[in-house]
Amino acid sequence: MCLSAGFSPLKTLRGSVRVCHAQLKFTHVRLNMQHVRVTRPDTYVRPGVTAGKAAGMAVVAVPSLAKQSHLYTSADEVINSLLDLQLEKWGLPAFQDRIEGTLPLEPWCIGGPVIKGFGRGSKVLGIPTANLSPEGYSAILSEHPAGVYFGWAGLSGRGVYKMVMSIGWNPFFNNTEKTIEPWLLHDFNEDFYGEELHLVVVGYIRPEATFSSLEALIAKIHEDRKIAERALELPQYLKYKDDPYLKSSLHQEN
Ligand SMILES: Cc1cc2nc3c(=O)[nH]c(=O)nc-3n(C[C@H](O)[C@H](O)[C@H](O)COP(=O)(O)O)c2cc1C
Repeated sequence: MCLSAGFSPLKTLRGSVRVCHAQLKFTHVRLNMQHVRVTRPDTYVRPGVTAGKAAGMAVVAVPSLAKQSHLYTSADEVINSLLDLQLEKWGLPAFQDRIEGTLPLEPWCIGGPVIKGFGRGSKVLGIPTANLSPEGYSAILSEHPAGVYFGWAGLSGRGVYKMVMSIGWNPFFNNTEKTIEPWLLHDFNEDFYGEELHLVVVGYIRPEATFSSLEALIAKIHEDRKIAERALELPQYLKYKDDPYLKSSLHQEN
């Protein structure tokens, strides 16, 4: 199998690979292709895809640049990121570390004051997200592809809560800016714009998607909520509730 153009945290994929020889070879190919991410996809990736297919390989393309998947249509499958790679689709043993519909990640942190989004969250969807500004986070955001993540949220002066989060362009609404939209899984009586929010992101659920209706989008987000709520009870994820970053500038503990 050949894989073109990497776009995902390397550590995660390395961590996913266990003992299967086929998987190791597969990952080796991927790592060797890593340099492609900084080059022009039409110049370097298309010939790679074509050559791979001519040699009888199946090719999965992972665009490094957002919204350029049309350049990769000659691949057998185009995926948002390597986090969405399903080896079983290709007759290989599945990654063994997916648990309860989630993929554990090397935890990463992001924080800042809560800002206003487009205002659809509460009003249109009934899902009040506590958006963070992407400013100052371009490096971390380019490392973490668009998708639905989850983890723990520390809200200054209030406590630590479970959270599920969308990072991306919200294809249903066709945003032009990448947004960071954590949904704190707790009933708050009031808004908390301007308050300091610290997130420890511990896992990945799915790529962002578009839907045939608003109801379908809402149903999917509630499904994400259930997955995150359940997963965060697992010791593997629960232990990060005590991460000092969550309370690093908080005045009051939960
Ligand atoms: C857990 C979660 C998953 C989401 N998944 C998607 C998605 O797959 N596609 C999409 O277009 N928007 C998705 N969204 C984003 C919502 O559309 C967004 O939060 C909503 O438009 C409100 O945006 P606003 O706060 O800027 O008004 C998701 C949001 C959350 C919290």
